[in-house]
Amino acid sequence: MPENTITATEASPAEKPQPTPPKYPDYLPTRPDGYAPAINLPLFEADEPGLRADPSKPDITKAATSIVNITPRIGTELHGVQLSQLSPAGLDEVALLAAERGVLVFRDQDFADIGPDRQLELVRHYGPLHKHPTMGYPKGTGPEFHVVYADETVGTLRDLLGPRASYDLWHVDQTFTPNVPSTTVFWVLEGPTNGGGDTAFSSLQHAYEALSPAFRDTLKNLDIFHTSASVGEIARVGQERALKEAVNAVHPLVIEHPVTKKPVLFVNPTIGRNIEGFHSTESAHLLSFLHDHIRSLDFTCRVRWAPGTVVVWDQRTAAHSAVPDFAQGDRRHMVRIIPYGSEPKAAFPRRAREEGD
Ligand SMILES: [Fe+2]
Repeated sequence: MPENTITATEASPAEKPQPTPPKYPDYLPTRPDGYAPAINLPLFEADEPGLRADPSKPDITKAATSIVNITPRIGTELHGVQLSQLSPAGLDEVALLAAERGVLVFRDQDFADIGPDRQLELVRHYGPLHKHPTMGYPKGTGPEFHVVYADETVGTLRDLLGPRASYDLWHVDQTFTPNVPSTTVFWVLEGPTNGGGDTAFSSLQHAYEALSPAFRDTLKNLDIFHTSASVGEIARVGQERALKEAVNAVHPLVIEHPVTKKPVLFVNPTIGRNIEGFHSTESAHLLSFLHDHIRSLDFTCRVRWAPGTVVVWDQRTAAHSAVPDFAQGDRRHMVRIIPYGSEPKAAFPRRAREEGD
């Protein structure tokens, strides 16, 4: 080694790079001790703004300087459309396009800087907002904001899940209530300095279409039990407490998308835990196949975040996973707001079930 080379271990503490302050300190996650909003939500008749939209999407197409599909099956990246400037009709078009394409990536947005009131107002266009029971929210706001944050002191999904050979966590958010999340808005405040920290999305519509007609025929008749005692929640509070406080719902395994009317494979690896009526081993076997299936590169895409990026995705069309591959200690600061849409309905009429003898 040349004499004038200083290795990391030789550097004095004063020479160690100091962490930079967060760019959006007002959006750091906070939560008063002991405050947990109820996660139970009684069934309600939801609006689906995508159904009101003009199918030719005039507001989006007029404003856009480019609209490019990420893959033919999932994801569209848009330039020139400023979400904060869209009329209610334009926001309806966003819901329709998100339902069709799974995930929309809006670049160069002012959304991060329009303030919490307007951020809430915009997402409320899509439905009543989910109040997260545990995630932190910006001081002075409420649990409708879900702050996703990692830095040199706050760990990532890797820390939550513990030692593993590889890390992803495919899921749909918060599907344990009769109404489920719909047109969700997720934006970046600060990304890792050395890259990584993408978000991956999988088309549950194309995952369904890829299956053989004979296999689809089996799935069409099944229901799946969803529970708030999810993989993440059990890791966070322990199995006993997670089960005691659980909120549960049963949804069809193949749902009709309320806007596109297409059948969707509505699996949720963290929350959709058991096939109704199956023995636990049968359920585990089938779900293991389906959970592997939705991770295929055949119907997934990755979204690379950049300053000003806002993602809008339809949780009934697409599952998602964080990609926690960024450097340990690097700051990643994101915010999400989730509206509720309608109750999932079975995509096909049910066959009579054979009774035991
Ligand atoms: Fe999520």
